[in-house]
Amino acid sequence: MEEKTYVFTKKQLNAEKNKVLSKFASVASHDLKNVVGGISNISYYLSKTVKPESETQKKMLDLLATEVVTLNNRITEVLDMTRVKQLNKSVCDLQNLIIKAIEENKIDGINFEQSLVSVKVYADPERMKQVFSNIIKNAKDAMSNSGTITITMNIEEDKIVTVISDCGKGMNAETLENCFDPMFSTKLAKAVGMGLTVAQQITEMHNGKIDISSQEQKGTSVKITLPTYKED
Ligand SMILES: Nc1ncnc2c1ncn2[C@@H]1O[C@H](COP(=O)(O)OP(=O)(O)OP(=O)(O)O)[C@@H](O)[C@H]1O
Ligand SMILES: [Mg+2]
Repeated sequence: MEEKTYVFTKKQLNAEKNKVLSKFASVASHDLKNVVGGISNISYYLSKTVKPESETQKKMLDLLATEVVTLNNRITEVLDMTRVKQLNKSVCDLQNLIIKAIEENKIDGINFEQSLVSVKVYADPERMKQVFSNIIKNAKDAMSNSGTITITMNIEEDKIVTVISDCGKGMNAETLENCFDPMFSTKLAKAVGMGLTVAQQITEMHNGKIDISSQEQKGTSVKITLPTYKED
């Protein structure tokens, strides 16, 4: 039988990939969470009933308990990344969300330069904050946690345009082309490659868009355009 050939756009392919990923993540995480729950119970039982015979044994038991918590948090994180939950929209000030995202990402070595404006948007505050946080995290990674991140906001007619720029290592043409793809990452084992996928998905669910320009060894600018809120 002759094999059929289908032609998909990159966007359609990514949408399909996303569907499969979130399905897989929800099934896998359900199972994994049960297993981790079991290990957590065992770890608790051991810590209460076993008398460690050496300092090393005590350390191992303590480590087991903390590692189980880390694993549980990591599974939840991956789940949250792959699954954009139902939006819970309200009228909120975009500036406040960006400030919260900055606060979450403040570390020694990174300097934020900001020129922000107070502007109302109709958005899910948690999810929109996640968009900015994911982009800021990438900027930090690109600058190896040292340098300046510049954030500007400008109102253009009925849109609010936020630009987040870094002076990090930038992207080559291939990375720029693929950076929004689900599970695309150049960070090897350190990352999942879902930050920009999710940021784009959330932004589009708010009728907005993300554009990226980047130059190798110079830096990256991420432009997030969102509609401003109009009172009727
Ligand atoms: N500001 C940036 N500067 C340079 N490269 C970037 C920047 N932002 C994204 N990238 C590139 O795009 C890729 C995809 O980014 P994305 O945020 O989706 O995934 P990640 O950061 O690798 O992993 P995750 O966000 O899931 O932890 C990155 O691996 C990196 O190569
Ligand atoms: Mg990222």
